[in-house]
Amino acid sequence: MPTRRVSLGTLELNVALDGAGEPLVLVHGFPLTHAMWHAQSRALADRFWVIAPDLRGFGGSSVTRGIVTMEQMADDLAALLETLDVRTPVTLAGLSMGGYVVWEFWKRHRARVRRLILCDTRAAADTAEAAGNRRALAERALTEGPQAVVNAFLPRLVSPSTTDEQPELIAALTEMMMSAPREGLAAALRGMAQRVDATPWLPDINVPTLFIVGEDDAISTPIETQAMAAAVPGARYVEIPGAGHLSPWESPEAVTAAFREFLQ
Ligand code: MLT
Repeated sequence: MPTRRVSLGTLELNVALDGAGEPLVLVHGFPLTHAMWHAQSRALADRFWVIAPDLRGFGGSSVTRGIVTMEQMADDLAALLETLDVRTPVTLAGLSMGGYVVWEFWKRHRARVRRLILCDTRAAADTAEAAGNRRALAERALTEGPQAVVNAFLPRLVSPSTTDEQPELIAALTEMMMSAPREGLAAALRGMAQRVDATPWLPDINVPTLFIVGEDDAISTPIETQAMAAAVPGARYVEIPGAGHLSPWESPEAVTAAFREFLQ
């Protein structure tokens, strides 16, 4: 997908842009880039203006040291839409950390939202123990580099069947994770550790909402996703057979079909 660097004051975001029509914003997970949405971007550009940024600290975007909160990433997206002169409300889709950003975007910029798609994500905040582990991993990312993050995350990101049947996907995933800047990894890990619980916001969501989860997702499980879907009025729920936490990448056709059905 063609990408462009978009300047937002002191920050530059690398953004994949394709297609024309209604805006569809795709927000990647940790520690990935816009490229994880490759299949959906290509397919849905037939009807949508697909906007898939690399979040601050990832891919080709600027890196900020210290901490980058989910609120900051949501505000970056709003600034991006402003700069791209997007006037109509968007469909906003986020996977995992991208979903945490979606909750904050909804909270802070809801006039810009037409529909929400939450993929393999959670509304709950980290427990104190999980937050502590993340902060420790942030320190290791700085000293040891992305390998520390690959070791911690890779075994849980995809379903066992993906590991067995799609070795090329695991290789591409590892390469993408290994190319993440260590300062970007640490800043996002610290930001995720201090994110707030979005669960109380769910009953107030009043735009069409779709939840997608891989059947074998070990990080944001189907049971937890069903509970979120039950809390959002009128939300739809789609489970992707044989996929794990990276369902759009592991089962691209099934996830694109779920998007299409919802977007019709
Ligand atoms: C992600 O895929 O973005 C991460 O698994 C999010 C997390 O670690 O909570």
